[in-house]
Amino acid sequence: MTAETTYVGMIGIGYVGLVTATCLAELGNHVVCMDIDGEKIAALKEGRIPIYEPGLPELIEKNRERMTFTTSLSDIFDRCELVFIAVDTPLTFTGDADLSRVFAVMSALPGLSADHHILVMKSTVPVGTGSKISSELARQEVGNIDYVSNPEFLREGSAIKDFLNPDRVIIGSRDAEAGEKVAALYKNLDTPVLRTNIPTAEMIKYASNAFLATKISFINEIANVCEEVGADVTVVADGMGYDQRIGKHFLNAGIGFGGSCFPKDVTALKQIAGNSGYHFQLLTAVIEVNELQKRRVVNKLQKHLGTLADKTIALLGLAFKPNTSDLREASSIVLASRLLGDGALVKAYDPVAIPYAAKAVRGILLCDDILSAVRDSDAVVLVTEWDEFTDLPLEKMKKLMRRPLIIDGRNFLDPQKIRDAGFTYEGIGRS
Ligand code: UDX
Repeated sequence: MTAETTYVGMIGIGYVGLVTATCLAELGNHVVCMDIDGEKIAALKEGRIPIYEPGLPELIEKNRERMTFTTSLSDIFDRCELVFIAVDTPLTFTGDADLSRVFAVMSALPGLSADHHILVMKSTVPVGTGSKISSELARQEVGNIDYVSNPEFLREGSAIKDFLNPDRVIIGSRDAEAGEKVAALYKNLDTPVLRTNIPTAEMIKYASNAFLATKISFINEIANVCEEVGADVTVVADGMGYDQRIGKHFLNAGIGFGGSCFPKDVTALKQIAGNSGYHFQLLTAVIEVNELQKRRVVNKLQKHLGTLADKTIALLGLAFKPNTSDLREASSIVLASRLLGDGALVKAYDPVAIPYAAKAVRGILLCDDILSAVRDSDAVVLVTEWDEFTDLPLEKMKKLMRRPLIIDGRNFLDPQKIRDAGFTYEGIGRS
């Protein structure tokens, strides 16, 4: 270890914490990773990685000498000046973000030396959390410990690339020197670093996710109108995207957004606005459009099959998007539950998420491959656009299925190819 090695602590080794810790190690820092889950820490010490993220096991292995795993907060505070917090902030039943895990960390802080620690918030926390934490630190008589907001913008499935090639780094601080120390961690990345005050940094995170979610709900509504007027939303989105003010990204119509961030963060921002006395009408619509969009495939199936009672529907893909095992808020869960509610038999195949699916939605038949899933089905619904589904074994599928019907919930397949193989094809918003 060189004399210049920076020791960084990471509290909370979930998805964001583990990816961030690994990438900070890759940048040459020594990272002390702490989690209260002893089994997780034991697994990591043995080289077992508790989440699915492409490239992560290899990067952890590469940086193993710069990563330490512990269940003790003192191990972090004894060695690290910069201490990141990356614990979960799920929704409460009111729609507010649940900060109990953040405050559990605050109440477990070991005796701190005020000169030597900077708490850095990676978790997505409501605007105003920075000042609540400062009050808590003051109550604990460590009020002059610095606090910096440094939100994450990692996408599951490409989180390592996103960390190492970010569009921007946001650093919100009250104390310029504390902000500078956090900024120094990113000095070797070629990216703009925006220094702000703490509430602004907190808001940038929520506003970014809410805007992206708004783009998706917007294009989904355009898709629904396209179906009424005989237009094709994929071409409409392409045509819109040439306008540089609009851009081509995040205009893929489909059966709704899911995951651990968008649904939670959009609801939390609506709630932050509501708590401050402002009714955020646009976000109310974004959420409602998304909920309805997740159910739209049911109507399409009914149009082709009549009643769904006793019909067999095969779902291809369960994860909320490709390259992740994550099922949180996945459209597949709402869709499967609706189909089961209508009396259908639901079968499903996913390249990665199957081991986690039994817990997420009960009553569906989980299959080991595409052909077992589609056998004896009345329709196939493509729910997640995994690469594996690009070239479906159409001939074999047609022989195994009761009816040749494919609903493409992500506009991922080539309609002409599917129709040429003798299937009825329907996408989302495609005439
Ligand atoms: C998101 C943000 O992109 C990231 O910056 C933030 O920090 C965490 O939340 P993630 O949840 O991993 O990342 O997924 P993302 O790739 O953004 O997709 C979210 C959802 O939107 C998925 O369900 C995806 O299928 C859906 N989506 C995305 C669309 O339906 N259409 C699109 O055009 C893009």
